[in-house]
Amino acid sequence: MIKQKINTTNTCQEFDSLRAALVKLEASKVKLIVVIGEHGQIVRTVSDGDIRRALISGMSLDDSVSKLPTRNPVVCQEDSDESEVVAAMNNNSVNTIIQVDSKDLPVFLINKKDLEGSILLSSPHLGESETNYVQDAIDSNWIAPIGPYLNRFEQDLSAICDRSHAIAVASGTAGLHLAIRALMIKQDKRIYVSDLTFIGSVQPILIEKHEPVFIDCEPGTWNMSTKALERQLKLDKDRNRLPGAIIVVHLYGQPANILEICKIANAYDVPIIEDAAESLGATVNGEASGCHGLISVYSFNGNKIITTSSGGAVVTNCPKIASKIRYLATQGRDNCLHYQHSSIAYNYRMSNVLAALGVGQLEVLKDRVKARRNIFSRYVQSLTRVPGISFQQEVPDTLGNRWITAIEIEPRSENLHPFAIMKILKSEGIDARPGWKPMHMQPICYGYDYIPHDEQTSYSERHFMRSICLPSGSNMPSRSQDRVISAILQILTKETN
Ligand SMILES: Cc1ncc(COP(=O)(O)O)c(C=O)c1O
Repeated sequence: MIKQKINTTNTCQEFDSLRAALVKLEASKVKLIVVIGEHGQIVRTVSDGDIRRALISGMSLDDSVSKLPTRNPVVCQEDSDESEVVAAMNNNSVNTIIQVDSKDLPVFLINKKDLEGSILLSSPHLGESETNYVQDAIDSNWIAPIGPYLNRFEQDLSAICDRSHAIAVASGTAGLHLAIRALMIKQDKRIYVSDLTFIGSVQPILIEKHEPVFIDCEPGTWNMSTKALERQLKLDKDRNRLPGAIIVVHLYGQPANILEICKIANAYDVPIIEDAAESLGATVNGEASGCHGLISVYSFNGNKIITTSSGGAVVTNCPKIASKIRYLATQGRDNCLHYQHSSIAYNYRMSNVLAALGVGQLEVLKDRVKARRNIFSRYVQSLTRVPGISFQQEVPDTLGNRWITAIEIEPRSENLHPFAIMKILKSEGIDARPGWKPMHMQPICYGYDYIPHDEQTSYSERHFMRSICLPSGSNMPSRSQDRVISAILQILTKETN
């Protein structure tokens, strides 16, 4: 807990002018100064807002601060710990509090954003084994992109996601690139992809010079619209230009309606690549998210539910595809003693050291899912009562890993636009971010087809304009979540009142 000693820089006297108070405020880190009486006692606090309101009501900058309307300062004892400070702030709906000594004289100023520093969106959360495994990999000198931990990581992952083959690679994007290459899709073929996603789902399509077709999300789940997908497949079949693959993203860790999507795609004989970058640990009818498409890809970058620092994996039940992916990920080296290469390929394998990190992280995956689901539930309990807020819905019979809790806020006023809210949260040290910007709105994707859920509304655009991703890390203390919740309630209820 960072405290600022109360001294002449953050105080003024009762009979100082508003102008003098403003000068102090300008230099103040917490944008609040304490007004001190003749015996050193606290008279009140003054903020920018107090002076603004005073000027509006007709006071002048030469008037003294003693003329401001009375307001009792919020204080707590000098020896109060962080949780007591947070409770006092929350109970009194203030962001700054004064700590007083046994004689009620002011000693410290504490601002909410200095309590625990910033609250991050989703930071890495290591368990107990990772350091030992990484140390072991180093001690045994298995530093290369092969080694016992790489094998173990792949075996453990294929068991968790119930796939015969898992190939650990350098990133989720690399995994998607390999998946597209392994399907040997002809260059002029289109590839359908969820519109609401991170650019990593789409870059490999562009790199391979295929034409992306962006499929809108549906309301509620914000995942690929089965309605838009089916409509477009019918149309493209009639025009004899069915896509080479469909890349289905499981947004924010919530499985899309994958069983229905597989049914639709099978009817047109189009293979499915699941972009399960965000959904490791989620389930569909009790089965792992990422075990339904022909190929699925996970990401283990630093913000994911588990991490290998950077990394990804491709999983499949098809042995031919698995061996093609291994081949392409290792420079396309032919199966002979000397170095011989017959294909354009990549250096995309994960290193044994990072796989050691991954082995430890897989051990705690279930705990991480539980923690994120609890975080989601607390947000729902605390924020549902605010009119106009909605949460991502689960497709029936699926359990998301709730990697990120995102909310949509119905627009009410300029001040309540999600971007304005995120700005305020940021000023309070809370790392809230916009939802993904739809792919059809990305400059690099202008000109490609976009298939909306229905003609009237683009649900992915609507999501982008209304969404806020809230801090969701499994290592976020509950008091940090309290801080996020109370900050949002303060912004939204202030606006409504
Ligand atoms: C939906 C989605 N697809 C693909 C990726 C790409 O994964 P990576 O960052 O490991 O390349 C990510 C991760 O950021 C993602 O969220």
